[in-house]
Amino acid sequence: MCNLRWLFTLFICYVSLTVAQRSARKTSPWLTLKGHRPLVVARGGFSGLFPSSSIYAYELALTTGVSDMILWCDVQLTKDNVGICLPHLDIANGTTISLVHDKGNKTYPVNGVLTSGWFSVDFSFDELNNVFLVQDIFSRSPVFDDSLQILTVEDVVKEVKPSGLWLNVQHAAFYSQHNLSMRHFVISTSRKAIINYISSPEVNFLRSIVTRFKASKTKLVFRFLEQDETEPSTNQTYGSLLTNLTLIKSFASAILVPKSYIWPVDKDFYLQPPTSLVLDAHKEGLEIFASDFMNDVSFAYNYSYDPVAEYLSFVDNGKFSVDGVLSDNPITPSLTFDCLSHLGKNKLRQEKPLIITSEGASGDYPGCTDLAYKKAVSDGADIIDCPVQITSDGIPICLGSINLLERTTVAQSGFNNLTLLVPELHQGSGIFTFSLTWSQIQSLRPAISNTYSNESLLRNPKFKNDGNFMTLANFLHLASNATSISGVLINIKNAPYLAANQGFSIVDAVTEVLNKSTYKDQKNKKILIQSSDGGVLKLFKAKSNRHELVYEVNENIRDALNSTISEISEIANSVVVGKDSIFPKNAGFLIGQTDVVTKLQAFKLPVYVQIMNNEFLSQPWDFFSDPYVEINTYVVVANVDGVVTDYPATAARYRRNRCSGLPSDQIPPYMEPSKPGQLLDFMTPQLMPPAEAPNPILTDADVADAPIPPATKKAPPPSGNSTSPSGQPPKATARVLLSSLITVAVIFLMV
Ligand SMILES: *[C@@H]1O[C@H](CO)[C@@H](O)[C@H](O)[C@H]1NC(C)=O
Ligand SMILES: *[C@@H]1O[C@H](CO)[C@@H](O)[C@H](O)[C@H]1NC(C)=O
Ligand SMILES: *[C@@H]1O[C@H](CO)[C@@H](O)[C@H](O)[C@H]1NC(C)=O
Ligand SMILES: *[C@@H]1O[C@H](CO)[C@@H](O)[C@H](O)[C@H]1NC(C)=O
Ligand SMILES: *[C@@H]1O[C@H](CO)[C@@H](O)[C@H](O)[C@H]1NC(C)=O
Ligand SMILES: *[C@@H]1O[C@H](CO)[C@@H](O)[C@H](O)[C@H]1NC(C)=O
Ligand SMILES: *[C@@H]1O[C@H](CO)[C@@H](O)[C@H](O)[C@H]1NC(C)=O
Ligand SMILES: *[C@@H]1O[C@H](CO)[C@@H](O)[C@H](O)[C@H]1NC(C)=O
Ligand SMILES: *[C@@H]1O[C@H](CO)[C@@H](O)[C@H](O)[C@H]1NC(C)=O
Ligand SMILES: *[C@@H]1O[C@H](CO)[C@@H](O)[C@H](O)[C@H]1NC(C)=O
Ligand SMILES: *[C@@H]1O[C@H](CO)[C@@H](O)[C@H](O)[C@H]1NC(C)=O
Ligand SMILES: *[C@@H]1O[C@H](CO)[C@@H](O)[C@H](O)[C@H]1NC(C)=O
Repeated sequence: MCNLRWLFTLFICYVSLTVAQRSARKTSPWLTLKGHRPLVVARGGFSGLFPSSSIYAYELALTTGVSDMILWCDVQLTKDNVGICLPHLDIANGTTISLVHDKGNKTYPVNGVLTSGWFSVDFSFDELNNVFLVQDIFSRSPVFDDSLQILTVEDVVKEVKPSGLWLNVQHAAFYSQHNLSMRHFVISTSRKAIINYISSPEVNFLRSIVTRFKASKTKLVFRFLEQDETEPSTNQTYGSLLTNLTLIKSFASAILVPKSYIWPVDKDFYLQPPTSLVLDAHKEGLEIFASDFMNDVSFAYNYSYDPVAEYLSFVDNGKFSVDGVLSDNPITPSLTFDCLSHLGKNKLRQEKPLIITSEGASGDYPGCTDLAYKKAVSDGADIIDCPVQITSDGIPICLGSINLLERTTVAQSGFNNLTLLVPELHQGSGIFTFSLTWSQIQSLRPAISNTYSNESLLRNPKFKNDGNFMTLANFLHLASNATSISGVLINIKNAPYLAANQGFSIVDAVTEVLNKSTYKDQKNKKILIQSSDGGVLKLFKAKSNRHELVYEVNENIRDALNSTISEISEIANSVVVGKDSIFPKNAGFLIGQTDVVTKLQAFKLPVYVQIMNNEFLSQPWDFFSDPYVEINTYVVVANVDGVVTDYPATAARYRRNRCSGLPSDQIPPYMEPSKPGQLLDFMTPQLMPPAEAPNPILTDADVADAPIPPATKKAPPPSGNSTSPSGQPPKATARVLLSSLITVAVIFLMV
C-alpha cells in the first residue's frame, strides 16, 4: 500500500505550491462566510472512479485536487472498537463481506426501523482482513473491485496523510445501542490526529461532544438529511430544524445540506430560483457546505450536463457562495474554483482549441435550428456548422441527418408513409429529406437528438421540439450577422448518391447559395467545406480558393499511411477525425494514444476532433466524467487544433480557464491532462476487459474517391408520393406504424 504514492505521482504530477500562492489575493471575490475560496471535500476520496474509501480513491483525490483538499471518511466501528472508513452502515454495500461471511446478515433497529444487512458491530477488525472494497454505485466501473482492503481512520491519517480530514458519523445512536461509543472514538482520535471537521445528522451526538471540541480547531457540522426525514434525537423533521438555525448554532459551527436545499429542482428536473439558505446560514455565523455532487448522474437540465456549470451556480452567482462542496469527483470543483470561477472580466483566453459546433448548440436545442445556432454564437463558438441536406424541390437545408426520422417529428406526421429503404444512406428504413419539399419540411417540428436517451440522459426536454428549420441561405444570413464567429462549416455528405439516384448536384446547390449570399464577401470570415468524399473537395478546390477544405475521416483508425496523408493534403487543408482515432479505448477505458495527429500535422494539416459531449456516458473513465479534463487532454496531450462539439459553451469556458496558460511548472494538478492507458495499471487483473480488435489503418484506397457522377433525373420514387402541395401534412394517423419507425440509433460509447 505504501508504495502507491509513486504511481500516483507518475499519474498526474502534483504541484503543491501553486494553488496556495495563487489564491492569496488581497480582496477576495468569494462570498463565503470568511471570504476564503470554498473547500473541496472528497467523499470517500475520488469515489467517482475508485471504490469509495479505498487507498486509490483517497490518493487520487489528493493528487488531482486543490492543495487543501479535505478527505471525507464515513466512520463505522467494529466489534472491537476500531474505526473504519466505509460509506454505508450496511457494510455489504461497498465490500465483499456478504461473500466472505455469508452468515453475517443480521436485522437490527436503526433509528427505530428494523434494518437488515451486514453490520460492522458484528465483526472484529481481524475478521475483515479478507474482505475487499467494491463500487457501491452500480453504474461505475467494477474493474477496480475486489483488490483493495478496508482502511481504518488511522490508516488514512498515516498512509494517505491528508491535507484535511473530515469524519462523518452518520449513526452514533445505532453504535450506542451496541455499546460502542462514537463520542469516545472521535475524542481519542483527536488526540492522535488533526480532525478538521466532524459531521453528524444526529443532534444528540453533536451536543455530546460540543464542549469537548469547543477549544479545538475541529469544526462540528450538523448534517441535514432530506427535509421530510426525522432527526432521531429531537423527533423533528430536518425541514423543521432548518427553521431555527440559532438552535443549530448552539452545537455546530457549520451545516451540510443536500444541494437541493439551496437550488431546488422542480418535478421536471429544472432549477427553481435559489433559496435564501446560504445567506441565512451566513447571517447566523454558520458555514454551509452542499452535498450530493457527482459528475456521473443526471443533474438539473439547466446545467446542460456540464458539472462545472453546476458548481459555479453554488459559488459564483454574484449573490452567495457555499463554503465548500462534498463531491465524488473532487477534480471538478478543484478546477472550477481555481481556474474557472469569476471569469467575468477575464478576457484572456487560450489560443486552442478552435471551437466548431456539431449542428449548433445541439446539446441544448434541436440541432441546426435558429435556436441552436444563436445559442452557439452566444456561447462562444468560432465556427458554426451546417450539415447540408437537399429537399425534393432542390433547396439545400441544414439538418443533422438526411433521415428526417432522426431530427424531426415526421414520424407523427402524415408523411410517415414516405419511408424508403436506402442501404447506402441509412440502415433500416428512413424518411429522407429529398422526399419532401422545403415547405412540407417546415410543417414538421424539429426534434432534439437524444444520443443517450437510453440511459435517461435527455437533452433539455422542455425545448425538445423548439426552434425553426434553416435553409443554407438562412444559415449564412445568420452567420453574416454574427460578429463573434470566425467562420462557417458546410458539411457535405452523400453527394454521389444524390447525384446518381436523385438527380441533385449538392455541390452546385451549395455553390449557388454561397454565390448569392453576402457572407462570402465577409473576407474576415472563413468558409470551411467538409466532406468525407474526396470528390466533393476536389470540385470545390477547382472552383476557388476561398474555402478551407476539411477532409473527414469517417471511421476510427489507428494509423494512416504517409502516402494516404500526402494524398489528403492534395485535396484538403485540414482533417477531422473521431476521438477514438487519437485515444483508442476499450470497455470505457483509454488504452493508449495513436500518432494520427502528429502524422497529419507533419503534412501541415490541422486536426479537429469530433464529437465532444458533456454527458458523462460519452467519456471514458480516464477523464473522470469531466468534459473539461477530456478537452484538456485532447488539447495538451494530443495537440489537436480544434474540437467539434455539441456543447460549445463548455469548450469556450475551457478555453478561458486561467490555469492552462501558466508556465508549465505552475500548472495545477487538476489542469494536468490524463495519461491515456494509465488506469490499466490499477485494474484488478482478473477483472480487466478482454482486448478488442484494433481499428484499421487509413490507406490510399479509403481516400481514392471516384469523381462525383453527373446529376441524373431521378426515377419515380419507389414507394408512394407526397400529397399536400399546400405544405400542410395530411392528418392521417398511423400510430401503429410509429413505434417501428422511430428507430433512434443509440450509440453506446461506453460499452
Ligand atoms: C438479510 O436478511 C433479511 C431478513 O432475513 C432478508 O430479508 C434479506 O433478503 C437478507 N439479505 C441478503 C442479502 O441475503
Ligand atoms: C448502495 O448505496 C448506494 C448509494 O447510496 C445506493 O444507490 C445503492 O442502491 C446501494 N446498494 C445496495 C445494494 O443497497
Ligand atoms: C450493552 O451493555 C449493557 C450493560 O452492560 C448490556 O446489558 C447489553 O446487553 C449490552 N448490549 C449489547 C448489544 O452488547
Ligand atoms: C415522534 O413523533 C411521532 C409523530 O409526531 C410520534 O408518533 C412518535 O411517538 C414520536 N416518537 C418519539 C420517540 O417521541
Ligand atoms: C430557536 O432556538 C433557540 C435556541 O434554542 C430558542 O431560544 C428559540 O426560541 C428558538 N426559536 C424558535 C422560533 O423556535
Ligand atoms: C431553468 O430552466 C428553465 C427552463 O428553461 C427556466 O424556466 C428556469 O428559470 C431555469 N432556472 C434557473 C434558476 O435559471
Ligand atoms: C440501453 O441499451 C442497452 C444496450 O444498447 C440495453 O442493454 C439496455 O437495456 C438499455 N437501457 C434502457 C434503459 O433502455
Ligand atoms: C442582424 O443584426 C441586427 C443588428 O444586430 C438585428 O437587428 C437583426 O435582427 C439581425 N438579423 C438576423 C437575421 O439575425
Ligand atoms: C459562383 O461564382 C463563381 C465565381 O464567382 C462562378 O465561377 C460560378 O460559376 C458560380 N456558381 C454558380 C453555381 O453560380
Ligand atoms: C512519414 O512521414 C513523416 C513526416 O514526413 C516521416 O518522418 C516518416 O519517416 C514517414 N514514414 C514513412 C514510413 O515513410
Ligand atoms: C401517404 O398518405 C397520404 C395521406 O394519408 C396518402 O394520400 C398517400 O397516398 C400516401 N402515400 C403512400 C405512398 O402510401
Ligand atoms: C399521389 O398518389 C395518389 C395515389 O397513389 C394519386 O392519386 C395522386 O395523384 C398522386 N399525387 C401526385 C401529386 O402525384
